[in-house]
Amino acid sequence: MRILSGVQPTGSIHIGNYLGATKQWIELQKNNECVFFIADLHSLTTPHNSADLQKNILEVAVAHLAAGIDPQKSVFFIQSKIKEHTELCWLLNTVCPIGDLQRMTQYKEKARQFKKDINAGLLNYPILQAADILLYKTEAVPVGKDQVQHIELARTIAKKFNQKFGKVFTEPKAMLSKFGAKIMALDNPKKKMSKSLDPKGCIFLFDEPEEIKKKIMSAVTDMGKEIKYNPAKKPGVSNLLTIYSLFSEKPIKEIEYSFKGKGYAQFKNLLAELLINSLEPFRRKRKELLARDIYIHETLKLGAKRAQIIAESVMLEVRQKMGLI
Ligand code: TYM
Repeated sequence: MRILSGVQPTGSIHIGNYLGATKQWIELQKNNECVFFIADLHSLTTPHNSADLQKNILEVAVAHLAAGIDPQKSVFFIQSKIKEHTELCWLLNTVCPIGDLQRMTQYKEKARQFKKDINAGLLNYPILQAADILLYKTEAVPVGKDQVQHIELARTIAKKFNQKFGKVFTEPKAMLSKFGAKIMALDNPKKKMSKSLDPKGCIFLFDEPEEIKKKIMSAVTDMGKEIKYNPAKKPGVSNLLTIYSLFSEKPIKEIEYSFKGKGYAQFKNLLAELLINSLEPFRRKRKELLARDIYIHETLKLGAKRAQIIAESVMLEVRQKMGLI
Protein backbone atom coordinates (compact mmCIF):
# COMPACT_ATOMS: atom_id res chain seq x y z
CA MET A 1 0.00 0.00 0.00
CA ARG A 2 1.07 3.61 -0.53
CA ILE A 3 1.11 5.20 2.93
CA LEU A 4 1.70 8.89 3.66
CA SER A 5 1.72 11.10 6.73
CA GLY A 6 3.21 14.34 8.01
CA VAL A 7 4.08 16.22 11.17
CA GLN A 8 4.45 19.92 11.82
CA PRO A 9 7.84 21.21 12.96
CA THR A 10 6.46 22.86 16.08
CA GLY A 11 9.09 21.84 18.61
CA SER A 12 9.84 18.40 19.95
CA ILE A 13 7.34 15.55 19.54
CA HIS A 14 5.39 14.20 22.51
CA ILE A 15 4.18 10.71 23.34
CA GLY A 16 0.75 11.61 21.87
CA ASN A 17 2.37 12.18 18.46
CA TYR A 18 4.40 9.04 18.94
CA LEU A 19 1.57 6.70 20.02
CA GLY A 20 -1.00 8.22 17.64
CA ALA A 21 1.16 8.47 14.53
CA THR A 22 4.92 7.79 14.56
CA LYS A 23 4.70 4.32 16.11
CA GLN A 24 2.34 3.28 13.30
CA TRP A 25 4.68 4.77 10.68
CA ILE A 26 7.56 2.69 11.96
CA GLU A 27 5.53 -0.52 11.77
CA LEU A 28 4.07 0.30 8.37
CA GLN A 29 7.40 1.06 6.70
CA LYS A 30 8.33 -2.63 7.01
CA ASN A 31 5.84 -3.80 4.39
CA ASN A 32 4.53 -0.75 2.54
CA GLU A 33 5.63 2.08 0.29
CA CYS A 34 5.83 4.91 2.80
CA VAL A 35 6.13 8.66 2.34
CA PHE A 36 6.65 10.80 5.48
CA PHE A 37 7.36 14.51 5.62
CA ILE A 38 7.84 17.55 7.81
CA ALA A 39 4.93 19.92 7.16
CA ASP A 40 6.77 23.24 7.41
CA LEU A 41 4.28 25.05 5.17
CA HIS A 42 1.42 24.06 7.47
CA SER A 43 3.26 25.46 10.47
CA LEU A 44 3.24 28.98 8.93
CA THR A 45 -0.51 29.30 9.46
CA THR A 46 -0.14 29.99 13.20
CA PRO A 47 2.25 32.56 14.72
CA HIS A 48 5.82 31.29 14.41
CA ASN A 49 9.33 32.58 14.82
CA SER A 50 11.18 32.54 11.46
CA ALA A 51 14.55 32.46 13.20
CA ASP A 52 13.63 29.16 14.88
CA LEU A 53 12.00 27.39 11.94
CA GLN A 54 15.10 25.64 10.52
CA LYS A 55 16.16 24.55 14.01
CA ASN A 56 12.68 23.11 14.63
CA ILE A 57 12.67 21.29 11.29
CA LEU A 58 16.00 19.69 12.16
CA GLU A 59 14.72 18.81 15.65
CA VAL A 60 11.64 17.06 14.24
CA ALA A 61 13.72 15.27 11.60
CA VAL A 62 16.08 13.99 14.31
CA ALA A 63 13.12 13.00 16.50
CA HIS A 64 11.65 10.82 13.75
CA LEU A 65 14.93 9.24 12.77
CA ALA A 66 15.67 8.54 16.44
CA ALA A 67 12.20 7.04 16.86
CA GLY A 68 12.84 4.62 14.00
CA ILE A 69 12.00 6.10 10.60
CA ASP A 70 14.35 4.30 8.23
CA PRO A 71 15.23 6.61 5.32
CA GLN A 72 16.30 3.60 3.25
CA LYS A 73 12.79 2.18 3.48
CA SER A 74 10.68 5.35 3.65
CA VAL A 75 10.75 8.53 1.61
CA PHE A 76 11.39 11.23 4.25
CA PHE A 77 11.61 14.91 3.31
CA ILE A 78 10.66 18.55 3.99
CA GLN A 79 7.34 19.58 2.43
CA SER A 80 8.42 23.03 1.14
CA LYS A 81 11.21 21.46 -0.95
CA ILE A 82 8.61 19.96 -3.27
CA LYS A 83 6.89 22.86 -5.03
CA GLU A 84 4.16 20.57 -6.39
CA HIS A 85 2.48 20.57 -2.94
CA THR A 86 1.65 24.28 -3.29
CA GLU A 87 0.80 24.03 -6.97
CA LEU A 88 -1.66 21.21 -6.36
CA CYS A 89 -3.02 23.07 -3.34
CA TRP A 90 -3.97 26.01 -5.57
CA LEU A 91 -5.64 23.75 -8.12
CA LEU A 92 -7.62 21.94 -5.41
CA ASN A 93 -8.71 25.34 -4.03
CA THR A 94 -10.85 25.58 -7.14
CA VAL A 95 -12.54 22.24 -6.37
CA CYS A 96 -13.23 22.59 -2.62
CA PRO A 97 -16.27 24.60 -1.42
CA ILE A 98 -15.54 27.25 1.27
CA GLY A 99 -18.34 25.82 3.44
CA ASP A 100 -16.44 22.54 3.79
CA LEU A 101 -13.46 24.45 5.19
CA GLN A 102 -15.49 26.59 7.56
CA ARG A 103 -16.95 23.58 9.32
CA MET A 104 -13.55 22.00 10.13
CA THR A 105 -13.15 21.60 13.91
CA GLN A 106 -9.45 22.42 13.86
CA TYR A 107 -10.08 25.64 11.94
CA LYS A 108 -12.74 26.70 14.47
CA GLU A 109 -10.45 25.88 17.40
CA LYS A 110 -7.42 27.66 15.93
CA ALA A 111 -9.52 30.68 14.89
CA ARG A 112 -10.62 30.95 18.53
CA GLN A 113 -7.07 30.49 19.83
CA PHE A 114 -5.44 33.00 17.41
CA LYS A 115 -8.24 35.60 17.22
CA LYS A 116 -5.87 38.33 16.05
CA ASP A 117 -4.40 36.33 13.18
CA ILE A 118 -7.11 34.40 11.37
CA ASN A 119 -5.25 34.30 8.06
CA ALA A 120 -6.59 32.66 4.88
CA GLY A 121 -3.97 29.92 5.26
CA LEU A 122 -5.63 28.80 8.48
CA LEU A 123 -8.90 28.26 6.61
CA ASN A 124 -7.24 26.68 3.55
CA TYR A 125 -4.98 24.47 5.66
CA PRO A 126 -6.96 21.25 4.90
CA ILE A 127 -6.61 21.88 1.14
CA LEU A 128 -2.83 21.91 1.48
CA GLN A 129 -3.17 18.73 3.52
CA ALA A 130 -5.34 17.19 0.76
CA ALA A 131 -2.68 18.19 -1.79
CA ASP A 132 0.02 16.50 0.34
CA ILE A 133 -1.99 13.30 0.40
CA LEU A 134 -3.35 13.19 -3.15
CA LEU A 135 -0.05 14.18 -4.78
CA TYR A 136 1.35 10.74 -3.91
CA LYS A 137 -1.83 8.78 -4.76
CA THR A 138 -1.94 7.77 -1.10
CA GLU A 139 -4.18 4.90 -0.04
CA ALA A 140 -3.89 5.17 3.74
CA VAL A 141 -2.90 7.97 6.14
CA PRO A 142 -1.77 6.92 9.64
CA VAL A 143 -2.74 9.77 11.99
CA GLY A 144 -4.24 10.57 15.38
CA LYS A 145 -7.99 11.13 15.79
CA ASP A 146 -7.71 14.93 15.51
CA GLN A 147 -6.73 14.61 11.82
CA VAL A 148 -9.55 12.31 10.67
CA GLN A 149 -11.82 15.14 9.54
CA HIS A 150 -9.05 16.49 7.30
CA ILE A 151 -8.45 13.08 5.74
CA GLU A 152 -12.17 12.73 5.04
CA LEU A 153 -12.13 16.10 3.32
CA ALA A 154 -9.15 14.98 1.21
CA ARG A 155 -11.22 11.96 0.20
CA THR A 156 -14.17 14.18 -0.78
CA ILE A 157 -11.88 16.45 -2.80
CA ALA A 158 -10.36 13.42 -4.60
CA LYS A 159 -13.83 12.16 -5.48
CA LYS A 160 -14.95 15.58 -6.75
CA PHE A 161 -11.82 16.09 -8.82
CA ASN A 162 -12.07 12.63 -10.40
CA GLN A 163 -15.74 13.16 -11.26
CA LYS A 164 -15.15 16.58 -12.77
CA PHE A 165 -11.91 16.04 -14.70
CA GLY A 166 -11.39 12.27 -14.96
CA LYS A 167 -9.71 9.83 -12.61
CA VAL A 168 -6.32 10.80 -11.30
CA PHE A 169 -6.48 10.47 -7.53
CA THR A 170 -6.82 7.53 -5.18
CA GLU A 171 -9.38 8.08 -2.42
CA PRO A 172 -7.38 7.99 0.83
CA LYS A 173 -8.48 6.53 4.16
CA ALA A 174 -7.40 7.50 7.67
CA MET A 175 -5.62 4.77 9.62
CA LEU A 176 -5.97 5.03 13.40
CA SER A 177 -4.02 3.28 16.10
CA LYS A 178 -6.50 1.07 18.02
CA PHE A 179 -5.87 2.67 21.43
CA GLY A 180 -3.37 5.50 20.97
CA ALA A 181 -5.41 7.65 18.57
CA LYS A 182 -6.12 10.25 21.25
CA ILE A 183 -3.71 10.54 24.16
CA MET A 184 -4.92 13.09 26.69
CA ALA A 185 -3.00 15.83 28.53
CA LEU A 186 -1.62 14.70 31.91
CA ASP A 187 -2.68 17.91 33.66
CA ASN A 188 -6.14 17.94 32.07
CA PRO A 189 -7.30 14.51 30.85
CA LYS A 190 -10.35 16.02 29.15
CA LYS A 191 -8.09 17.72 26.58
CA LYS A 192 -5.80 16.01 24.10
CA MET A 193 -2.07 16.08 24.76
CA SER A 194 -0.82 19.02 22.71
CA LYS A 195 2.41 20.98 22.37
CA SER A 196 0.48 24.25 22.32
CA LEU A 197 -0.91 23.69 25.85
CA ASP A 198 0.98 23.60 29.16
CA PRO A 199 4.19 21.48 28.85
CA LYS A 200 3.28 19.93 32.23
CA GLY A 201 0.60 17.99 30.38
CA CYS A 202 3.00 16.56 27.78
CA ILE A 203 5.74 13.97 27.99
CA PHE A 204 8.17 14.73 25.21
CA LEU A 205 9.99 11.86 23.56
CA PHE A 206 13.32 13.15 24.84
CA ASP A 207 12.35 14.32 28.33
CA GLU A 208 15.01 13.49 30.91
CA PRO A 209 14.10 10.84 33.55
CA GLU A 210 13.53 13.44 36.31
CA GLU A 211 11.07 15.36 34.10
CA ILE A 212 9.17 12.20 33.22
CA LYS A 213 8.92 11.22 36.87
CA LYS A 214 7.75 14.69 37.92
CA LYS A 215 5.08 14.89 35.20
CA ILE A 216 3.71 11.40 35.83
CA MET A 217 3.65 11.80 39.62
CA SER A 218 1.68 15.06 39.28
CA ALA A 219 -0.70 13.75 36.57
CA VAL A 220 -4.35 14.49 37.39
CA THR A 221 -6.32 11.42 38.50
CA ASP A 222 -9.45 11.40 40.73
CA MET A 223 -10.58 11.03 44.33
CA GLY A 224 -10.99 7.26 44.02
CA LYS A 225 -8.51 4.48 44.66
CA GLU A 226 -9.13 1.92 41.95
CA ILE A 227 -6.92 1.50 38.90
CA LYS A 228 -9.74 0.86 36.43
CA TYR A 229 -10.24 1.79 32.78
CA ASN A 230 -13.32 4.00 32.51
CA PRO A 231 -12.74 7.08 30.31
CA ALA A 232 -16.07 8.72 31.23
CA LYS A 233 -15.71 8.44 35.01
CA LYS A 234 -11.94 8.12 35.41
CA PRO A 235 -10.39 9.99 32.46
CA GLY A 236 -7.00 10.57 34.11
CA VAL A 237 -6.45 6.98 35.25
CA SER A 238 -7.77 5.64 31.91
CA ASN A 239 -5.31 7.79 29.99
CA LEU A 240 -2.42 6.58 32.16
CA LEU A 241 -3.56 2.98 31.69
CA THR A 242 -3.63 3.51 27.90
CA ILE A 243 -0.07 4.87 27.97
CA TYR A 244 1.03 2.01 30.22
CA SER A 245 -0.55 -0.55 27.93
CA LEU A 246 0.95 0.87 24.72
CA PHE A 247 4.49 1.09 26.10
CA SER A 248 4.41 -2.27 27.89
CA GLU A 249 2.46 -3.98 25.09
CA LYS A 250 0.26 -5.58 27.75
CA PRO A 251 -3.56 -5.53 27.57
CA ILE A 252 -5.27 -3.03 29.88
CA LYS A 253 -7.14 -5.84 31.69
CA GLU A 254 -3.85 -7.46 32.67
CA ILE A 255 -2.48 -4.16 34.01
CA GLU A 256 -5.67 -3.50 36.00
CA TYR A 257 -5.35 -6.97 37.50
CA SER A 258 -1.70 -6.54 38.46
CA PHE A 259 -2.51 -3.28 40.29
CA LYS A 260 -5.55 -4.63 42.14
CA GLY A 261 -5.54 -3.32 45.70
CA LYS A 262 -2.55 -1.06 45.05
CA GLY A 263 -2.67 2.73 45.13
CA TYR A 264 -2.22 5.45 42.52
CA ALA A 265 1.28 6.33 43.79
CA GLN A 266 2.56 2.81 43.18
CA PHE A 267 0.92 2.72 39.74
CA LYS A 268 2.42 6.09 38.81
CA ASN A 269 5.87 5.08 40.07
CA LEU A 270 5.91 2.00 37.86
CA LEU A 271 4.52 3.91 34.88
CA ALA A 272 7.27 6.53 35.26
CA GLU A 273 9.87 3.76 35.39
CA LEU A 274 8.39 2.10 32.29
CA LEU A 275 8.46 5.37 30.36
CA ILE A 276 11.98 6.25 31.47
CA ASN A 277 13.23 2.86 30.27
CA SER A 278 11.17 2.80 27.05
CA LEU A 279 12.29 6.28 26.00
CA GLU A 280 15.96 5.76 26.89
CA PRO A 281 16.97 4.39 23.44
CA PHE A 282 15.31 7.41 21.79
CA ARG A 283 17.25 9.83 23.99
CA ARG A 284 20.50 8.01 23.21
CA LYS A 285 19.83 7.89 19.45
CA ARG A 286 18.91 11.56 19.41
CA LYS A 287 22.21 12.55 21.00
CA GLU A 288 24.08 10.54 18.37
CA LEU A 289 22.10 12.09 15.53
CA LEU A 290 22.45 15.66 16.78
CA ALA A 291 26.17 15.33 16.21
CA ARG A 292 25.58 14.28 12.58
CA ASP A 293 23.79 17.23 11.05
CA ILE A 294 25.38 16.76 7.60
CA TYR A 295 23.94 13.24 7.52
CA ILE A 296 20.47 14.57 8.47
CA HIS A 297 20.57 17.25 5.75
CA GLU A 298 21.76 14.73 3.13
CA THR A 299 19.05 12.26 4.18
CA LEU A 300 16.33 14.88 3.77
CA LYS A 301 17.75 15.99 0.41
CA LEU A 302 17.76 12.42 -0.87
CA GLY A 303 14.20 11.96 0.40
CA ALA A 304 13.12 15.10 -1.48
CA LYS A 305 14.68 13.74 -4.70
CA ARG A 306 12.66 10.55 -4.37
CA ALA A 307 9.46 12.46 -3.55
CA GLN A 308 10.01 14.80 -6.51
CA ILE A 309 9.86 11.92 -9.00
CA ILE A 310 6.37 10.86 -7.84
CA ALA A 311 5.13 14.45 -7.45
CA GLU A 312 6.20 15.46 -10.96
CA SER A 313 4.53 12.54 -12.67
CA VAL A 314 1.22 12.98 -10.81
CA MET A 315 1.20 16.74 -11.51
CA LEU A 316 1.64 16.04 -15.21
CA GLU A 317 -1.59 14.03 -15.13
CA VAL A 318 -3.38 16.72 -13.11
CA ARG A 319 -2.35 19.55 -15.45
CA GLN A 320 -3.40 17.49 -18.47
CA LYS A 321 -6.82 16.71 -17.01
CA MET A 322 -7.44 20.35 -16.02
CA GLY A 323 -6.50 21.67 -19.45
CA LEU A 324 -3.26 23.31 -18.41
CA ILE A 325 -1.21 21.44 -21.02
P1 TYM B 1 0.59 17.40 14.07
O1 TYM B 1 1.97 17.89 13.79
O2 TYM B 1 -0.30 18.23 14.92
O3 TYM B 1 0.66 15.96 14.72
C1 TYM B 1 1.40 14.88 14.16
C2 TYM B 1 0.63 13.57 14.37
O4 TYM B 1 0.42 13.33 15.76
C3 TYM B 1 -0.96 13.04 16.01
N1 TYM B 1 -1.31 13.53 17.37
C4 TYM B 1 -1.85 12.76 18.33
N2 TYM B 1 -2.22 11.46 18.36
C5 TYM B 1 -2.73 10.97 19.52
N3 TYM B 1 -2.91 11.72 20.63
C6 TYM B 1 -2.57 13.04 20.65
N4 TYM B 1 -2.73 13.75 21.76
C7 TYM B 1 -2.01 13.62 19.47
N5 TYM B 1 -1.56 14.86 19.15
C8 TYM B 1 -1.13 14.78 17.85
C9 TYM B 1 -1.70 13.83 14.93
O5 TYM B 1 -3.00 13.32 14.72
C10 TYM B 1 -0.78 13.63 13.74
O6 TYM B 1 -1.05 12.40 13.10
N6 TYM B 1 -2.04 18.49 9.90
C11 TYM B 1 -1.08 17.55 10.47
C12 TYM B 1 0.20 17.42 9.66
C13 TYM B 1 -0.03 17.10 8.22
C14 TYM B 1 -0.47 15.84 7.70
C15 TYM B 1 -0.52 16.03 6.29
C16 TYM B 1 -0.82 14.63 8.29
C17 TYM B 1 0.16 17.95 7.18
N7 TYM B 1 -0.14 17.31 6.00
C18 TYM B 1 -0.93 14.98 5.44
C19 TYM B 1 -1.22 13.58 7.44
C20 TYM B 1 -1.28 13.78 6.03
C21 TYM B 1 -0.71 18.03 11.89
O7 TYM B 1 -0.81 19.18 12.20
O8 TYM B 1 -0.15 17.06 12.68
